[in-house]
Amino acid sequence: MENIILIGFMGSGKTSVGGKLSRVMHMKFKDTDQLLEEEFGCKISEFFEKEGEAEFRNRETALLQRLNGTLQSTVLATGGGLPLRPENAELLKKLGMVVYLKASRETTVRRLSGDTTRPLLAGGNVEQKVEALLEQRIPLYTAAADVTVLTDGKSFYEIINEIEKRWKERMNWA
Ligand code: S3P
Repeated sequence: MENIILIGFMGSGKTSVGGKLSRVMHMKFKDTDQLLEEEFGCKISEFFEKEGEAEFRNRETALLQRLNGTLQSTVLATGGGLPLRPENAELLKKLGMVVYLKASRETTVRRLSGDTTRPLLAGGNVEQKVEALLEQRIPLYTAAADVTVLTDGKSFYEIINEIEKRWKERMNWA
């Protein structure tokens, strides 16, 4: 079965939607941040401190290259910066149907204010950081995606239904 790849900004619900979606669709669930933390043996924030963002990005690309060809019947949630490298965006399209979970700026800021786990938001004004990153990233997420799902005001059930419907259409099962 074709994989489903979830992309989107930090706090867009990739991990929580992905876990539930995989259960509904009887698929496996994987999360690139979790896979990388297992590989690093430490939290992503610690890896950023020790090795820097550029090395983290290299490791994300290496992980995608390893997944390519081996991932099957899986919902894959990805780190918020992973689809930004053109090379990664291409690899994601090969891996499966790429779904962009898109929340509004307001929802995103609300969910992320007070976050202490994400290195890119550490120190300073979360709202300003989110705004600046969103501006750069929204066009890239949109270009990397096969399908964009707007999540504001929708329940998990509605979001999952929409993804399932698009996936079946793509597989010609609808
Ligand atoms: C990042 C998002 C994080 C994690 C890392 C970098 C980003 O993943 O990969 O902190 O660049 O947006 P989540 O989107 O799961 O928070």
